[in-house]
Amino acid sequence: MYSNTVMDHFLHPRNKGKLENADAVGKVGNPVCGDVMYIYIKVNGDVITDIGWETMGCAAAIATSSMLSELAKGKTLDEAMKICRDDIADALEGLPPIKMHCSNLAAEGLHKAIENYRNRDAILQKLRHVVGERDAQALFRAGITSLEELKNASIESIAHAVSDEGMERIKKQLQK
Ligand code: FES
Repeated sequence: MYSNTVMDHFLHPRNKGKLENADAVGKVGNPVCGDVMYIYIKVNGDVITDIGWETMGCAAAIATSSMLSELAKGKTLDEAMKICRDDIADALEGLPPIKMHCSNLAAEGLHKAIENYRNRDAILQKLRHVVGERDAQALFRAGITSLEELKNASIESIAHAVSDEGMERIKKQLQK
């Protein structure tokens, strides 16, 4: 079912794991299968100097995250925005049609991370009104970038990211 390259990236994933000092995060989920992916990027000037990912998903989602990280590392933000699902699938020597959406998830996660990086100041300003400076940064690093996403995020993921004080402020905000 899977090519040798898919199996290699699944069994030996590259750049796997959270980047603690990431400049931005892209969080995406697939409503059909319920899989979730986080793409972390470190940017210097206009170049993605480091990248990490966490994927709770199928073998194809793990292989595509791994291949995406190799394709994006060292690229400028504009170049990385052009990476699409077919580029990832081609680099993996093909994916079964039923698994193509998994490569789409990886491309979307990267694009979201870049958009969040580019809109960082505006996003942080909005989050600050809800939870204050310190927790705004923490939410941003957890891939939560709007009030809407905050409302849809699981309590566990929010509580994991913010302080108790921030959690109280969020609860009050969500009750409004
Ligand atoms: S089946 Fe959900 S990402 Fe692959």
